[in-house]
Amino acid sequence: MTAATKPPRPLIAGNWKMNGLLAALAEVRALAGRLARSGKTGADLLLCPPATLLHPMAQALSGSAIALGGQDCHAEPKGAHTGDIAAEMLADLGCRYVIVGHSERRQNHGETDAEVAAKATAAQRAGLTAIVCVGETRAEREAGRAEAVVTAQLLASLPAGCTDRNTVIAYEPVWAIGTGLTPTAADVAALHAAIRRVLGQRFGAAAGCMRLLYGGSVKAGNAAELLAVANVDGALVGGASLSATEFWPIVEARL
Ligand code: 13P
Repeated sequence: MTAATKPPRPLIAGNWKMNGLLAALAEVRALAGRLARSGKTGADLLLCPPATLLHPMAQALSGSAIALGGQDCHAEPKGAHTGDIAAEMLADLGCRYVIVGHSERRQNHGETDAEVAAKATAAQRAGLTAIVCVGETRAEREAGRAEAVVTAQLLASLPAGCTDRNTVIAYEPVWAIGTGLTPTAADVAALHAAIRRVLGQRFGAAAGCMRLLYGGSVKAGNAAELLAVANVDGALVGGASLSATEFWPIVEARL
């Protein structure tokens, strides 16, 4: 098996969004404990808490295999950007990943594909792996445009130099986020195959092992089915990642 065809190592990531006070670190300790006790090492685990919890979570995860990531970064390494966080600052705290272009940032903060690409470039510059999010709205899916929309987003949101080491793609249909709705396994398979094709055309062999995550209402009850779909190399989990009890069965589905 060549490097280009080797199946990617799965990544199960939790995006806490704007949730979690210091008391929530108990969940992280519980998760790290379950992982250690399981003795399993078949997937990478990642938590992306709000910025306020990055440092205490780094301490809580010390000695654990669970990685830490930011939820967003600025494109510049430093400067007069009140309230923003540079990719270098995330790396400085021990982060290994950063989510860029989440649909909540695209929608609530008007982030464009070009801005997302600049943030992914910043992640590369800082030595982080960017988790670049793409996904269609309900209206776009109903109009039969899901694949075209996602393809266009990908091409415009990914900078030059993306490899399987510095980039992960998260396919998150906007209508599936926080709604309890999910696409069928066949729909996920079709979109992920399309994403794999586009990545191959754009980046060649460097994209062969790029990890493609599915996100949107992943729960204990549907994780095994979604994670078994071809070209699904892991999950980006929102609500269900906030509790160790809810997150662990999702992790175990691919561990
Ligand atoms: P939910 O799992 O809460 O639907 O959120 C998905 C998501 O947006 C992860 O980034």
